[in-house]
Amino acid sequence: MNIVKVKLPAGAARAYDIRIQPGLLDELGRQTVRIAGAGSVVIISDTNVGPLYGARAERACAAAGLRCELLTFPAGEEHKTIATAAKLWDGLAAQSVERATPVVALGGGVVGDVAGFVAACYLRGLPVVQVPTTLLACVDSSVGGKTGVDHPVAGKNMIGAFHQPSGVLIDPLLLASLPQREWSCGLAESVKHAVALDAKFFRWLASRAEQFAAIAARPASEVVRQADTLAELIRWNCRIKAAIVAADEHEAGLRSLLNFGHTTGHAIETLAGFGHVRHGEAVSMGMAVATRIAVGRGLVDSALLDQLLGLLTRMNLPTAVPAGLSPGEIIKLTTKDKKVRGGRVRFVLPFAMGQAKLFDDVTPSELERAIRP
Ligand code: GLY
Repeated sequence: MNIVKVKLPAGAARAYDIRIQPGLLDELGRQTVRIAGAGSVVIISDTNVGPLYGARAERACAAAGLRCELLTFPAGEEHKTIATAAKLWDGLAAQSVERATPVVALGGGVVGDVAGFVAACYLRGLPVVQVPTTLLACVDSSVGGKTGVDHPVAGKNMIGAFHQPSGVLIDPLLLASLPQREWSCGLAESVKHAVALDAKFFRWLASRAEQFAAIAARPASEVVRQADTLAELIRWNCRIKAAIVAADEHEAGLRSLLNFGHTTGHAIETLAGFGHVRHGEAVSMGMAVATRIAVGRGLVDSALLDQLLGLLTRMNLPTAVPAGLSPGEIIKLTTKDKKVRGGRVRFVLPFAMGQAKLFDDVTPSELERAIRP
């Protein structure tokens, strides 16, 4: 069993473990009792993941003597709304949920964010156990306590709360059912961690790019065969993320570096229409844009940009912003980003491999040149 500890500033009581182990889903009940010590549990999932893994999760909970209720909501970013959260609160209200009753978030990024938010608000905070089922959720969103829903006007993740999980249980074998394009999301976030924070991790990824592209192409067979490499990929990401969250839980500074590629990435994802460009594909394009700005400013030389573009391409990630999207619209939308402070858009730009900084003086013309080089 691989264990990564997230040590939070306010002391040991809030610290939690990320456990990574093939087959961990079948220990869900035992692990939930260990983490939350309650007699019942509510599992929240979506209509993609619920039918795949819901029954197994329920069996594992029953085997540990837990009373268990499975609540499912329609899959997709378009359902990451306050209306979905409200229906789930209705579902919790129909159960005998107490403040110690844990919510298990069984699914990808959307499920983790929505279930985490639902738990954060209900009875002013239920414990959450994150059980991620996508690579994106394993390497990024299940760790760190960001929860929330989208707002139709304000945008993605604009309504939310920091609510740290009490534990994260990662079973890499669950990724066997992940559609090919979904892998891009987790691989792009891995490249983000490497370029912004860890040059050694970048070299590790670069030496295995084809291996990950092969897993993404045939996960049903490759996930089992390459379970150890996959667990190592997840562990490496979780170690990086855990260190950042421990140092800056509420994104006062250091944690902002995890937004590398996301400023233009979010705008591209929104303008293309959710689902047309996947989150990871948009982040991949966004990292290329940010690195071109860094090259233009002389922060890094073009060799670093070539290294980045080379790795993303070998992982089958797109790096060019789609021709149909207008640079003007992208620039306009970036000014609505959560990272805006005092009206200035904040960009994370690399200044060496594995090192990045926040800048708030990127001009529209610099951004336009980087979008259409
Ligand atoms: N996904 C970025 C963060 O958790 O801060």
